[in-house]
Amino acid sequence: MAEIIYLNGRLVPRSKAKLSPFDHGFLYGYGLFETMRAYDEHIFRLDRHLARLRCSAESIGLTHNILSTDEGKQSLKVACLATLEANKLKDARLRLTISAGEGGMTPDPSTCSSPTVLITARTLFPLPPEKYESGFKAALSSLHRNSQSPLSRLKSTCYLENILARMEARAAGCDEAILLNEQGYLAEGSTANVFLVSNGELITPSFESGVLPGITREAVLEIARASNIETQERQVELKELIEAEEAFITNSILELMPLTWFEGKPIGSGKAGQLTKELLASYRKIVDEAVK
Ligand SMILES: Cc1ncc(COP(=O)(O)O)c(C=O)c1O
Repeated sequence: MAEIIYLNGRLVPRSKAKLSPFDHGFLYGYGLFETMRAYDEHIFRLDRHLARLRCSAESIGLTHNILSTDEGKQSLKVACLATLEANKLKDARLRLTISAGEGGMTPDPSTCSSPTVLITARTLFPLPPEKYESGFKAALSSLHRNSQSPLSRLKSTCYLENILARMEARAAGCDEAILLNEQGYLAEGSTANVFLVSNGELITPSFESGVLPGITREAVLEIARASNIETQERQVELKELIEAEEAFITNSILELMPLTWFEGKPIGSGKAGQLTKELLASYRKIVDEAVK
C-alpha cells in the first residue's frame, strides 16, 4: 500500500506530495513540528501537542487561522487522525510539521503567503523491554543549549544542533547526548528531557535552564505529584546527575527511558532504577486509560 501523506488539506500518495523549493521551512528553518505517538489509533495528548504548537507558533509570529482558531485546531486534529487511518496505522509515530510556506529568496517571512502543513505517520516499533531494563548510555555533548535563545524552548525545524549532539554521542558509542546550558547547568538530551532521582526526590531542569516544555515531562511531573513524590524543577548541577540514584529521559516516542550510564560510568546501579520503573508503569497506565 502506498504511504499516504497529509499536505495542505489533502491526503495524497507520497509520490504526489510535493513541497515548494522556496518553502521557508526548508530554506531557513522557519517552521515547527510535533512528534506524537499513537497507541491503538489514539494519539496520546494530541490536544497538548496542538496547544504547544499554537503557543510556539504565536511566539515566532507564525500566524494563520489553522493555528490561531479553534476551528483550525479542530481541523488539525481531524487531519492527524485521518493520516493514521489512511495509512491503516494503529501504533504509530506521527509528525505534524508547519512551516511559513513558500516565500521569496531572502529570509523575509512577509513574502510567505500561507503556511505549509504536513503530516506523516509510520508504524512505530518500540524498543524491546530489555532496553528499558538496561537503559541508555549517554555522553556529555560539547554543544550547549542557549537558555536565552527562544529556539531552546521550541520544537523548531532547525534541529541541526540536536542532530550534531546526537552524532557526537553515537560516535562515542552512546545512545543519547546530554547538553548543558551556557551557564553550565544541566539542560536536556538531544531529543528528550532529563530527570534524576536524588534522596527519593524527582528533579528536572526548569524551563529557565533552556529546555523544551516536553509533553512527556509534563505527564511525568503530574504522575509524581499525584503519587506524593517530591518534585523539583530548578537549575541542576551536572554533578547531581553523576551522583544521582537514578536518572531517565523522556519523550513522546520513548516514554521514560532509564539513563543508566553517563560518560562511561554507571548512574546508581547502572540498571533501571525502582522509581523510574514505577513512573514508567504509571505513565503506561495513563496511556491505557486515555486509549480505552
Ligand atoms: C530537544 C527535545 N527536548 C525534549 C523533548 C521531549 O518532548 P516530548 O515529551 O513533547 O516528546 C524532545 C522531543 O523530541 C526534544 O526534541
